[in-house]
Amino acid sequence: MEEFVERVLIPTAEIYQRLDELAQQIRKDFQDKELTVVAVLNGSLIFAADLLRRLPLPLKLDCISASSYHGGIESSGTVNLANLPDINGRHVLILEDILDTGLTLTAIQEELGKLCPLSLRVCVLLRKRKRRAHLVTADYIGFDIEDEFVIGYGLDYQEKYRNLPYIGILKESAREE
Ligand code: XMP
Ligand code: MG
Repeated sequence: MEEFVERVLIPTAEIYQRLDELAQQIRKDFQDKELTVVAVLNGSLIFAADLLRRLPLPLKLDCISASSYHGGIESSGTVNLANLPDINGRHVLILEDILDTGLTLTAIQEELGKLCPLSLRVCVLLRKRKRRAHLVTADYIGFDIEDEFVIGYGLDYQEKYRNLPYIGILKESAREE
């Protein structure tokens, strides 16, 4: 295991198995709809790539950028969104890496909601078990996890570790406080 990882939380095989299940569920729900997937970069890049290849639906893909972090592990309070897509009259599925405080997804739902989609659903790979300041729910959830800072499979600490193939907990000693 890598020296900056405290422990592996979700091994790659488990991620793939869960993606198979999520894809089945999503396929069923959207089989007769015109689906637009909106992936939230950078965190959902790897999740989206793996999930979409399991989805045999005629979908469109758009990517938006959202940033609410300034490097560390604390959320900054405001969310910057870039590259908002044209989703007028589309059934939209947002793909996000993790639902933590809910700040990011609340902002994304609000902004995309203004663009007149026919429907707006949310799929997150991870959801932290905690009290959320922002009331936001996800329609599809990969894994519920404890409130710990995780890295890998797209998730970063100061833009590092996104390319780890599994989801792990970052060691205290690898953090700059
Ligand atoms: P909020 O608090 O807005 O957080 O729900 C969502 C965004 O914050 C990032 N985030 C994390 N990134 N490990 C990460 O690498 C974590 O444990 C973590 N918790 C939150 C993430 O970018 C997400 O989009
Ligand atoms: Mg991040």
